[in-house]
Amino acid sequence: MNTLRSESQQRERIPTEIHDSSESASRELAAYIAGRIRQRAAEGRSFVLGLATGSTPVRLYRELVRLHREEGLSFSNVITFNLDEYHGLGRTHPESYWRFMHEQLFNHIDVPADQVNIPDGLVARGDVFAWCRAYEERIAAAGGIDLQVLGIGRTGHIGFNEPGSGRDSRTRIVTLDALTRRDAARDFLGESNVPRYAITMGVGTILDARELVMLAWGEAKAEVTALAVEGPVSDSLPASFLQLHAKVRVLVDRAAASGLTRLRTPWLVGPVEWTPALARRSVTWLSQVTGRPLLKLLDSHYGEHGMAELLTEQGPAYHLNIRIFNETQHTITGWPGGKPNADDTHRPERALPHPKRVLVLAPEPSDEMLGMGGTIARLASQGHQVSVVYMSSGNLAVPDTEAAAAAELLMSFSEKDGPAQYARTRAVWQKLMAQDGEEGAAPAAANEQELRRLKGLIRRGEARSALRTLGLPTEAATFLGLPFYEKGRYRQFRPGLEDFEMLRALLVRHQPHQVFVTGADQDPSSLGALCFDLFRKVLADLKGEAWLEQCRVWLYRTPDKRWAPHEIDMAVPLSPDQLAQKVQAIYQHRSQRSQSPSRGELHSEEWLQAEQAARELAKAYDALGLAEYEAIEAFSRWKG
Ligand code: GLP
Repeated sequence: MNTLRSESQQRERIPTEIHDSSESASRELAAYIAGRIRQRAAEGRSFVLGLATGSTPVRLYRELVRLHREEGLSFSNVITFNLDEYHGLGRTHPESYWRFMHEQLFNHIDVPADQVNIPDGLVARGDVFAWCRAYEERIAAAGGIDLQVLGIGRTGHIGFNEPGSGRDSRTRIVTLDALTRRDAARDFLGESNVPRYAITMGVGTILDARELVMLAWGEAKAEVTALAVEGPVSDSLPASFLQLHAKVRVLVDRAAASGLTRLRTPWLVGPVEWTPALARRSVTWLSQVTGRPLLKLLDSHYGEHGMAELLTEQGPAYHLNIRIFNETQHTITGWPGGKPNADDTHRPERALPHPKRVLVLAPEPSDEMLGMGGTIARLASQGHQVSVVYMSSGNLAVPDTEAAAAAELLMSFSEKDGPAQYARTRAVWQKLMAQDGEEGAAPAAANEQELRRLKGLIRRGEARSALRTLGLPTEAATFLGLPFYEKGRYRQFRPGLEDFEMLRALLVRHQPHQVFVTGADQDPSSLGALCFDLFRKVLADLKGEAWLEQCRVWLYRTPDKRWAPHEIDMAVPLSPDQLAQKVQAIYQHRSQRSQSPSRGELHSEEWLQAEQAARELAKAYDALGLAEYEAIEAFSRWKG
């Protein structure tokens, strides 16, 4: 365990280990768990392992399965207890944690079925209390949990202990937080299908385990992880209770670690090497915390905020302010593909060649509009050859109600002259009708090929319509339809060689001068991160190709993860009209709109989020003392 803490970790109240990737962290933890299991087996004793669900532990489970298969690790002496289960879901429901655990782990190892314990989602409401007490008793009878694995939800929950859960809470039924339900909406093919209740071990139950390991991957977990590790202990962030445990550690990848003081503002916790990037980050931060534009920062502000050393090395404030102001100013361009016949020394993109072949990669339709609709319109209107490549069909994100409406339309359209198609569509429609209203039923027959094909076609139509809204020809769209998506479910996708080859062939065919791509730093099991990873591998494979040497890769982000000003290498301003056009384009993705606006879920609508993100970035630039724009879309240059 990491007990030796360095100066830079002084604010961390839980020992936190930063790993290069979620894979290396998962491998390390799996090896540790294997060691503990073997040690107990040698003593003729059992090992009691507490387990979690969600995408976070998926790699850990894969590694445990590998250790079982390839290195003879036996789980015959292991007793498991899972943290939680949705209330109302039976074992066979595609999203039940029972099913998840069996598919991810238990079916592939030799743990005896009677040593596996998972809360029962179908206990009648009136019996829940007694059932939960019995679960606690079972844990006690097994000798208590030796090691509990935990993930963290964006509300700061552990298990399903949402904010408000007390230090001493025990296994019980809880109401899920709105944010938690929204995060699960993808898995359930619509927020309205997400259960409202769950059974979870309590905070007290978790703290009773002899050892705790919490895992967090991806940028979306950075803020909440930093609060849990560095913030006060409070029931408004249940993961902070882990600080009270004597044997606990947190394993994070770089993206999830990025909110920790030692990475976010390292100059506050010790001496740093003042690289140009760190100087820009810290001065931008100083402007934000003091609420003063860059050019109005004084030496005293630097001194009062732990930046005296920077001042000594690179100051005075006057020089530093101007330098960082200029650097930031140079990120702004109305010419995202480069400005022909202009001096490009200080521009984010080269003037030549012009026009450029531009490839925009979207993990699924609408990602590109949310992240860079305005920029796509500009690139096209400035004469570049823009191709938008939809990597997956996105059909899993189409609600059944949309599919039913489309099926009805197709049926009436093909009734007279397309009997075979009519019959196929009717079969899909009948299935949709049959499952409607079944309590706790799987929302869609997610593996039904014909249904998924129909949903994929819906998204294609929307994507084309969105491109037309921006003035692009329909031919600008390429539907790559990577096979891994068609074979999988959210959180459980596994791209393979076939996907790699398809993307590789596409890049070789296009030989782009510019690629816009998203997904870097996302939760590694998310669709965006998997698509990015595939792209990264293809580029590594193509390394050395002449055209690739001339190609620039720009990262864009969807509104759920926004750029901080210091991370931006290219900022493309949008006029009010351009912003309205972008919103209009996003609006074409009608299957992605909220299905139940009456429940007050309107705030999560994608076009509103995208509009707000672009406006807020413009405000942030304005606050730094740069020009005041209506909205900005931003990119960071990927250096590989
Ligand atoms: C769910 C689970 C938690 C899990 C969290 C994070 O709500 N009940 O145990 O830690 O989600 O999920 P993910 O790992 O997919 O980010």
